[in-house]
Amino acid sequence: MDSIVVKGGTALQGKIKIAGAKNAALTLMPATLLSEEPLTLTNAPRLSDIQTMTALLQSLGVEVTSMQDGKVQVLSSHAMTSTTADYEIVRKMRASNLVLGPLLARHHQAVVSLPGGCAIGARPMDIHVTALEAMGAEIELKDGYLHATAKGGLKGARVPLRFASVGATENVLMAATLAKDTTIIENAAREPEIVDLAHCLRRMGAQIEGEGTPTITIEGVDRLGAATHPVVTDRIELGTYMLAPVFAGGEVECIGGRLDLVQSFAEKLDAAGVAVTETADGLKVARKNGRPTAVDVTTEVFPGFPTDLQAQMMAMLCTAKGTSVLEEKIFENRFMHAPELIRMGADIEVQGGTATVHGVERLKGAPVMATDLRASVSLILAGLAAEGETVVSRVYHLDRGYEHVEEKLSAVGAKIERVARS
Ligand code: UD1
Repeated sequence: MDSIVVKGGTALQGKIKIAGAKNAALTLMPATLLSEEPLTLTNAPRLSDIQTMTALLQSLGVEVTSMQDGKVQVLSSHAMTSTTADYEIVRKMRASNLVLGPLLARHHQAVVSLPGGCAIGARPMDIHVTALEAMGAEIELKDGYLHATAKGGLKGARVPLRFASVGATENVLMAATLAKDTTIIENAAREPEIVDLAHCLRRMGAQIEGEGTPTITIEGVDRLGAATHPVVTDRIELGTYMLAPVFAGGEVECIGGRLDLVQSFAEKLDAAGVAVTETADGLKVARKNGRPTAVDVTTEVFPGFPTDLQAQMMAMLCTAKGTSVLEEKIFENRFMHAPELIRMGADIEVQGGTATVHGVERLKGAPVMATDLRASVSLILAGLAAEGETVVSRVYHLDRGYEHVEEKLSAVGAKIERVARS
């Protein structure tokens, strides 16, 4: 199994190209199930989660052609063979549940395994189920699978979500494009990946209004057609690399970065003494003077501070002057990186959903273990600031969401390499 070895203490200088968003691609790919005609995605990220979604779609009979080293994906659902999303694939990735809405909409049936336990909390699917039932679906849980049918097709409805779930909003949005009449999603999630999905669906012929606001209105149509769509920039990869020069010193320009994608995060960086400047090609980041200062952070739904940047921010606050309080409001168990950061000399107390971080002058390299995707990258970032060598093992988590992390960071001067360890 591979490990990543980071030697801290080298200032960074240069440009990092930010990839297309994993979480956008993972909802854009199943959108192909809504049409017989091909969907072409450009600016797709090269990640193992994308391969998992490809395998899932192929198991349903979707043809997936990967071009330009994976940057272009052509998907075609003209010869579907199954409407069952098997546990063996779904258990690897929760986003597999995003086939439920499109399968129900076009095939009026779907059997989708429940994702099962997940390292960062219970992550149930009740919001998805309640919403699709409001649209006329009948859904039953049998042997760990959701068996869903919509005899005569889904019907437009008013669909209030008890919580602005990203996945549930995406499932309902896709399902509603082919439902009869009008669907109104209330308390919809507003994440940029949902806006991107709406743009793509519109290119396919869907009638949608209000994406990016809490109320999305969808007028169902009879069929959707072919489209070509560029995947939006990955705001989480962007935020992650924006932090790199804060740990290591120097200046990094994130190419393709946009402030509107990371507004609340950039505001926290500013408060912590980090300069974020818009350039013609992206965002440039450098410390204003020396170590960052403590800031309090609470994760929220978009446009609030993203939970997917919480681990990276915690790592940064470990090196800040003063004490910061971090509150995790989206997932109930998302501080698994804290004990690993403590192994590197961090001073963190965790109590329930609150972490109190007392900044230390220096972190120290140590062997650490990645426990989930964002936790693993937070340990790499911490390694950039640490004295000596940090060895991050179990990097398969990292490969789910970051393409060529060691190449991107070494191109700006970091001492980082991937080593194969048995
Ligand atoms: C998506 C992102 C993930 C991100 C998360 C929150 C993808 C592929 N993944 O995940 O990276 O961390 O948004 O920004 O886009 N919940 C329920 N019932 C449901 C659905 C969700 O209780 O039916 C709860 C979850 O347990 C969790 C919270 O709602 O505590 C947020 O989940 P949700 O917004 O649905 O996240 P995902 O779509 O799974």
